[in-house]
Formats: sequence, C-alpha cells, structure tokens
Amino acid sequence: MPTSLPALAFGGDYNPEQWPAAAHREDRELMREAGVDLVTLAVFSWAWLQPRPGAWEFGWLDEQMDDLHAAGIKVDLATATASPPPWLTHRHPEMLPVTQDGRTLWPGGRQSFCPSSPVYREHALELCTRMAERYHDHPALALWHVSNELGCHNARCYCDTSAAAFRTWLRARYDDDVARLNDAWGTAFWSQRYDDFAQVLPPRVAPTHANPTQQLDFARFSSDQLLDNFVVERDVLHRLSPGVPVTTNFMVMRQTPQMDYLRWGRELDVVSNDHYLIGEEDGGHRELAFSADLTRGTADGRPWLLMEHSTSAVNWQPRNRAKLPGEMIRNSLSHVAHGADAVLFFQWRASRAGAEKFHSGLLPHAGTDTRQWREVVELSRVLDAAEEAAGSTARNQAAILFDYEAWWACELDSHPSIDVRYRDRAEDLHRALSARGVGVDVVHPSTDLSSYRLVVVPTLYLVDDAAVASLTAAAEAGATVVITYFSGIVDESDHIRLGGYPGAFRDLLGVRATEFLPLLSGQSVVVEGLGSDPVTADTWAEDLELAGAEAVATYADGPAAGLPAVTRRAVGEGTAWYVATRLDPAGTDRLVERLVDETGVETLPGAADLVEVTRRVGEDASWLFVINHGEAPAPVDVHGRELVTGRDVAGDLRVPPGGVAVVRESARPAGREA
Ligand code: GAL
Repeated sequence: MPTSLPALAFGGDYNPEQWPAAAHREDRELMREAGVDLVTLAVFSWAWLQPRPGAWEFGWLDEQMDDLHAAGIKVDLATATASPPPWLTHRHPEMLPVTQDGRTLWPGGRQSFCPSSPVYREHALELCTRMAERYHDHPALALWHVSNELGCHNARCYCDTSAAAFRTWLRARYDDDVARLNDAWGTAFWSQRYDDFAQVLPPRVAPTHANPTQQLDFARFSSDQLLDNFVVERDVLHRLSPGVPVTTNFMVMRQTPQMDYLRWGRELDVVSNDHYLIGEEDGGHRELAFSADLTRGTADGRPWLLMEHSTSAVNWQPRNRAKLPGEMIRNSLSHVAHGADAVLFFQWRASRAGAEKFHSGLLPHAGTDTRQWREVVELSRVLDAAEEAAGSTARNQAAILFDYEAWWACELDSHPSIDVRYRDRAEDLHRALSARGVGVDVVHPSTDLSSYRLVVVPTLYLVDDAAVASLTAAAEAGATVVITYFSGIVDESDHIRLGGYPGAFRDLLGVRATEFLPLLSGQSVVVEGLGSDPVTADTWAEDLELAGAEAVATYADGPAAGLPAVTRRAVGEGTAWYVATRLDPAGTDRLVERLVDETGVETLPGAADLVEVTRRVGEDASWLFVINHGEAPAPVDVHGRELVTGRDVAGDLRVPPGGVAVVRESARPAGREA
C-alpha cells in the first residue's frame, strides 16, 4: 500500500545514481539525523532506467525504494521523463526544440525535447506507464512527480512539428474558420490576411514586429502544450496508481512567466512550487512572499508543497551569493507562513560533477561539520515544532488580481513604454500591504471576489468582460477596488477597447484619458495630495479627465501637470480607485495606509517593513507566523503558545533579529477582530 504525505514534509531531491553505494548508506543515516521524511527520486534517471531502446533496468531503483522505506523515508517518485537520454535524441533528432530564430537546441544539457513532439510523448508515456506499473503499490510511495519544471528550458519551440500543432490548436480556438482567426489577429493590418490555416506559422523571427495576437496565441498554445504533457502522464498515473496524488513542480518566480500556472493548478492533485531567490537583489524575501501567495492562488487557496529551494547559493546566476546565517530558515518558514505544507530542497547531497556541482545542497561538499548542516538540522526541528499547522490555510480580506495572459500581453513589443513591467506593481502593492499586516490572496480575475473588502488590480492590461463585471459587482456590494495604470486597455484578442482609456474600467472608475504620457528613462514627477508632503512617481502618466470621480492626488509637474494622478469614486456600497502613475515606495505606502483606514481591512499584529506576519487558520485553531528580516527585535502583541521556543506568550512576544516564531493563538478576545 502506498503511504500518505508527511504533515510538514522536509527533504529534497535525491539523486543516488550520482554516488557509489557507500554514499547511499551514509545518506540514509544522515537523512535520519536531519529528520528528512520525504525525498524526490528519479527526476533525471531516464538514461539509467532505460539505457538503450527496449532495455529496462529497475533493479537499482527497487533497491532505493526499499531502503528508503526501511529508513522511514517517504518518496515523491518522479516519472523520470524530464530529460530524454542521448540514444533517443540520437535516433530522433526531429524531437529537438528549435528557437525563434531557427537554431536547434542540441542534447548535452537537459529537457532536449519539443513539447509537441509525438516521438517524445510516445517514449515518455511508455516510461511513465512502466514506472506506474512497477511502483504503484510500493509502501514508500507518497506522491507522483510528473516530469520536472515543465517548460524550464523548452517552453516555446518554433520547429515544424510545433507549427503543425499550433495550427491544430488555432483551428480549435477559431472553430476551423480562418476568417475568425483573421478578425482576432487583426490581419487587415500590414497585408497579413490568411487564406488558409496551412499558411499560419509560429511567430518566428520576422523582419519587424510580429503580429501581437499571433504572439499572444502562441504563448497560450505553448502553455497548453506543456500542460498537456502533464495531463497525459497524470491520466496514466491515475489509472494505474489510483489514490496516489500527482503533482508537477511549478516555477512561480518573477523570471518565469511562460506557463499559465493559475490555470494549470486546476489540473494538479496537489500544487508544488520551486522558488529561487535572485541572490544579488535586495529584499528578495518580498518577492518570495509574493510568489508564495501566488502559488497559494494556483492551488485555489489550499496548502501546497515547496518542492525546491536552496540551502544557500545556486550555480546559475552571474554571481551566486551564499545565504546569510538564518536566511535559509527564514526563507523556509516564509513559504510555510504563506501556505506551504512541505519544505524541500534541490538537492540532498551537493553534486561532485556536472553543471550543478557548485549548487548548495542539504549536505554540503564540506560535510556535516558546517554551519550549513547545523542550520539544516535546526530547520528540521523548527518544522517539527510547527507541524500542527499543516493543513491550515489563509483567510484573507484583501486580494490582488493576477493573470498570466495579461502578463504576456502587457509585455509584448511596440507598446507605449518598455518600463511597464507586469509583476512590478503587483509586488510593490503586495509589499506595502504586507508591511501593514494585511494578508493578501493573489488570485485569477475569474475568482469569486465576494468575500474581499479590498481588491487590488495592478496593470491588468488585458481583461475580459466577465472580470470587469465581477469587479464592478464587488465594488457595488461594498468592496474597495483599486486599479492601476495600463489596465483594461484591450480585450482577449489584444484589440483596443475604444472610447478612451482605461477602456474597460472607465465607467467603474469615472475617469477618461485620451492619451498616454509615458515618462522618459530617469524622469520622475511630483505628485501632491497623498499626505502632507509630496511624493514622486515615474514610468507613466496620462491626460486624465474626471468623469464622476474625484481627484485624490494631482501631478505638480511633468507632462500631466495639474491633472489627476489618483482618483476615487463612490460606487454602490463601495469605492473604485484609479492610480494613473507608478508611485514611488513612499507614495504607495501612503496610498495603502489610506486604503487600510478606509476599508477597515483586518491587519495582523507586529507587521512592519522588515517583519513579515501571516496567519494560517485551521478548523479549531489559528497560527500566527512572524519572520523577522530586520536587525532589531520585533515586538508582537499576540497571545498563545510560541511553538519554536515552546513558551507561552501574552502580548509580549519579541522575535529576535533574523528569527522566526509560530504562535498557536489562544482564543481572541471578542470584538478584537472583524
Ligand atoms: C531547478 C531544477 C533542479 C535544479 C535547480 C537548481 O530549476 O528543477 O533540477 O536544476 O533548479 O537551482
């Protein structure tokens, strides 16, 4: 009988094929010492399981499964289809991915396959089937792990096979009617009219800007093709290994917009995510917090698994910063604070050879007499102490709407300004809300918004009518809706919503702009009205007129001098705000301060710029997580039992600099909370 997942799982990718048998025995002893209870096995094992066509060698994996089971360690078993072996690409070079400018991506790295390749799929499904048949009832099996980071290196393939698959996808989208495709793609422009689907290609490198809707549809198609690779393997696993959950690891991070994870999440039994900090960036913990909330959004609010992060440096950034003492524990707890029920790492033992030999692991090259190892053991203790919070989740009153399609469309070429970056506003507003203790759900625009008091809509360039109606209904019913610049500009086909900007949201917001006035590189403008002294803004301005809204803040200079920069309009029982420029951090903070005051949205105690506070709520209890990223102790007014130290607190919790705390809250005094 397969087993269940550990409550707050701890462990990582385990690649025993890279090491001799003596190391395996040591691995299991040290895993026990570190409290590892879940490992991900066989991710890159295809060439070991099927060394040549028709030859299967499962003996070594049988042994690993049995030995791990005997050591009390559960297994997240990969289907091993992530990286095809050299014999396969050698026989079938037509399965290799091709870039936009026609270069073949040759084997020698990993993920050398076109996501639409029937040859790849046939062989991958054979392997997946054999894995499922062999291990479906193994007692160590807790989870199936399809492929690995689908689309990490091969998200968009432009080969002839992809072109044919793209045409099939387009025929389905446009009801086999090329006239509908012509309408959607606006092909009256530049003589692009197609007479037959056979003439359509992926947006390969062209003399100048490719058709934007062609690019957008290709992004949708590419995401769907990769998802399909997951779905076909998942279906095999569901058939042959019923009852065992199936996942694939997402890459919800700023650098990876290619997969529409908010849609993908619906297909997974349990969502898992890989997250890596950009080590050279200041305040990476804020990007981490946003990504973790977005991951919870992909899981529709349910707990999810942190499948990979790093104990310290990675190997793939230009300069790979080692984590500071305590940083790995803070990162780990932060993921748990935002809904993770597992803290796993890439990888168990740092490799000796290969491209990732300088990537940190749970067990470093230098062995166990290291600060890194001691921190790993300490993290395991902290997770054990907090284990009772597993299964709980957030119940927040504020939401940020997020949409991968809007991201793709917003960042296409030939737009008013290359400085409009989609995730930028979302992360900044998330940061400002978090610093005031407002818990935030990051959700797709199709989400039911009726339980939110505050709904923030950053740069939702592309929006469908249903989302506009849902936001309008939320405002009418009493919510405060805040929309930022370059939102509501186009429909799903990337066609302008006519009549003035911000097209789809003009009526809700009571404003109208006739022209964008993007700011130049390095240019900033002064904005007055948000508090007693002025703030600055950059990137964007508009010649905005009021059409029912009031001006809250106005530009003091720049191309929109004297015009409204921030507006507010009463709508039914609620309010709609428009923020027409990119406020600096101080301006964003003032805006958020006012929104928090006006909406009365719940705020968690102790939160500050460098003090992250979240609450997870279970059936009979709630847990307050505090992560102190600062250099001063963080006082928190919370009552209950602090699980990391095992002490009771009565309004007097002080989290040390760089420390973490998890408090099981005693019943809150009546009236203290909305
Ligand atoms: C992930 C991948 C792992 C490992 C890791 C290194 O993208 O899934 O296999 O390469 O990055 O940071």
